[in-house]
Amino acid sequence: MSASTNPDPKPTGPVRRLNVSDIARLYADGTRIAMVTAYDFPTARLLDEAGLPLVLVGDSLGRAALGYENEIPVSMDDMLHHAKAVVRGARAALVIGDMPFLSYATPEQAIHNAGRFLAEAGVQAVKVEGGRRSSRTIEALTKAGIPVMGHIGLTPQSINQIGKLRVQGKTREAARELLSDALAVQEAGAFSIVLELVPEQLATAITERLRIPTIGIGAGAGCSGQVQVLTDLLGYEDWHPRHARPYANLREVILGAARAYRADVEAGSFPGPAETVRMDDDVIDEVLGHSVLDRPGRSIPAGGIPLDRDL
Ligand code: KIV
Repeated sequence: MSASTNPDPKPTGPVRRLNVSDIARLYADGTRIAMVTAYDFPTARLLDEAGLPLVLVGDSLGRAALGYENEIPVSMDDMLHHAKAVVRGARAALVIGDMPFLSYATPEQAIHNAGRFLAEAGVQAVKVEGGRRSSRTIEALTKAGIPVMGHIGLTPQSINQIGKLRVQGKTREAARELLSDALAVQEAGAFSIVLELVPEQLATAITERLRIPTIGIGAGAGCSGQVQVLTDLLGYEDWHPRHARPYANLREVILGAARAYRADVEAGSFPGPAETVRMDDDVIDEVLGHSVLDRPGRSIPAGGIPLDRDL
């Protein structure tokens, strides 16, 4: 990525966010676009410092951070709460808010909720699942001035219809439908589109036929960019989906730190001198009515402790 598209993202620098034109420029320049999900302030700050151009506040929030079984229970309020924190942390990345289940069932509802994402949380774009079935909504949003990222292939909010998270578009019919979905999303005005769990050849063919960037997850290397769920990227679990590549093993790092801390507390070696504040001994002696002779290593005066002492 060139310096002109992602200015100094240091946490203290001025806020100068990328916008959808910057993303179009990266795409036109042939830069592969990296996107990661984020759900909180400190992580967003680090992703920004690392120069990620796109940060998605995904509804994977439900599984990754809230302990839900899937994306269905995630509410608009959940998303706004986390999106606000991410926007405060990311100063250069374009932040995208994922429209949760049933928050965009009609174009009117979509405009209302996407408007909340932009006005209340400060994100710069929203993501909606669905191809042809969502094209009217995408068109309404873009006409209202709200940049939209589409999402086709596996759409986790349809879990109750599809039954299981599996690769989409493998049959002739399904592949043709996905191609039509991708074109419909583009024609409706989306600035980019996520392809999730799509066979590599089909994802590459879709990418070649579109003039907006495709962001793949489990869709092979032929997409214009890639997205990973943060907890997969950082290795929070023993298990990760086949398409993910953990770039860290935070599970081991966190377990190791938590176990070492617990052991130190139990052994009395935390806190030590480096983590402890002391005050002037004379001041505390006076407050407690002690004399210098009461300090450790001093003996009780020959006449005993004076009777008028408080303690
Ligand atoms: O919610 C999410 O994290 C997503 C990505 C997998 C694209 O939709």
